[in-house]
Amino acid sequence: MEIVAIVGSLRKESYNLKIAKFIKDRYKDKLNIEILIPDLPIFNEDIEKDPPVEVIDFKEKIKNAEGVLIVSPEYNHSIPGGLKNALDWCSRGDRVLAKKPVFIVGASNGNVGTARSQMDLRTVLNSPGLNAFVLPSNLVLIPNVQTLFNEKDEFVDERTIKYLDKVVDNFIDWRMKMS
Ligand code: FNR
Repeated sequence: MEIVAIVGSLRKESYNLKIAKFIKDRYKDKLNIEILIPDLPIFNEDIEKDPPVEVIDFKEKIKNAEGVLIVSPEYNHSIPGGLKNALDWCSRGDRVLAKKPVFIVGASNGNVGTARSQMDLRTVLNSPGLNAFVLPSNLVLIPNVQTLFNEKDEFVDERTIKYLDKVVDNFIDWRMKMS
């Protein structure tokens, strides 16, 4: 299954990026994942009819995917601006996330592991402009992420890994029922 993974953090050493890479590698027999970093110009209605080339490419990749994984931290209890900006671009013109199956993973260094931002993310993805289909339930919340990598920088949290195994299978089953 062809999937794009949108990472909500732009920083090079992002834990969410590392987890996206972990997912890409661990489930490579089931999912072919291309990782996208949404480092896009700020959405502006004045330029939406003639969007920057990065936006066109980003939307095209989502359009061609069979599903989308979002792996994102929480910023100030909500969606990081870069990710929200990318979603705003996707809500206008060609609405590439409409009816697109999406599943969400989030890691933060706090105790609730992006729970608050994931609620906001689900609200935004359910808005009429986006109208994405988000895998119900299956909340993958990864708290205290800075403690979950070993000295080789490998993600080693067995509890989350076991749960991810289940969620990925749930996503694939649910996705198959749609087509
Ligand atoms: C944070 N962080 C954070 N953590 C959290 O659990 N809840 C929050 O609301 C916030 N808010 C927040 C705002 C901003 C602007 C930054 C930069 C950070 C901390 C965050 O969880 C931590 O920096 C993660 O490591 C960010 O994810 P990446 O970049 O490692 O993927």
